[in-house]
Amino acid sequence: MNATMYELELTLNGKKVKDMIPSDMLLIDYLRNVRLLTGSKKACGAGECGACTVLMNGRPIYSCITLALQAQGKEIETIENLSDGDTLHPIQEAYLDAGAVQCGYCTPGMIMSTKALLQKEPQPGTQCIKEAMAGNLCRCTGYQQIIEAVQLASERMEQRRRDS
Ligand code: FES
Ligand code: FES
Repeated sequence: MNATMYELELTLNGKKVKDMIPSDMLLIDYLRNVRLLTGSKKACGAGECGACTVLMNGRPIYSCITLALQAQGKEIETIENLSDGDTLHPIQEAYLDAGAVQCGYCTPGMIMSTKALLQKEPQPGTQCIKEAMAGNLCRCTGYQQIIEAVQLASERMEQRRRDS
């Protein structure tokens, strides 16, 4: 039996969008297949790894266990919103510079969780970083580089605030 179609209206990466979608469509499938925003990854598909993390009204969520219709009227931000043309966001640069990107599969989700953390807590301590990133798993880096990337991003963003 086909799922009922509903109109979904949300703000996606700062722009209002509207689509007819089936009621049972997951947010990750909406982003990747309807909106062609393929930066967010679908890995475990079960709310366990964080590769699909996006921000909903500024808070990190697993888009693989969220229905697209749950985003009705909300603001969703994906990794595609971070860079400014060819200029990477300081968080993206910090991940590269700290060697926190290896296979890269976890990286979009890690970066979105980092963004949410640094918005809430611009200068987090190590324990705070570990807690904020606990929902994002990485098979490659052993996490130390990720902690360093978050610290580096925090420092650089602080420097930019001072310079501006
Ligand atoms: S793909 Fe969503 S938590 Fe793993
Ligand atoms: S860099 Fe490969 S899973 Fe994290």
